[in-house]
Amino acid sequence: MRRIITFGTYDVFHVGHVKLLKRARLQGDYLIVGVSSDELNFSKKGRNPVYSLDNRMEIIGSLKFVDEVFVEHSLEAKRQYILETKADVLVMGDDWVGRFDEFKDICEVVYLPRTPSVSTTEIIEVIKEIE
Ligand code: CTP
Repeated sequence: MRRIITFGTYDVFHVGHVKLLKRARLQGDYLIVGVSSDELNFSKKGRNPVYSLDNRMEIIGSLKFVDEVFVEHSLEAKRQYILETKADVLVMGDDWVGRFDEFKDICEVVYLPRTPSVSTTEIIEVIKEIE
């Protein structure tokens, strides 16, 4: 059993998220997703998520290619999360390329290409313009 772990906020869920998670699951047999807490998202992106943590967890947890979800409270705890979940592979989008190489001593690290032309930030901007 090859266990995969990935992390993200997954706010305003979109097709780039679907494609990333589907491809992450194809790297192994069991996909675990760490969903950023509201506080962690604020510290990373300088805004509160539009969707609550509970809703983001429910959306991600209901996907057929996701086996397990948990709350990621801290960026600094990644090593601990990887060890606790016994993950064999860490998958991240290639916007993070090189940033997680430090974990190559405990798991494989794979960066997958992002889906072009879609992001939560862009969707929020488009909706603001409509208003
Ligand atoms: N992702 C992707 N393709 C996209 C957007 C996101 O593959 N077009 C991936 C990211 O690389 C990450 C995961 O989806 O591994 C979760 O990304 P997240 O930061 O939650 O979504 P973004 O749309 O990138 O959000 P933002 O615009 O707020 O940065």
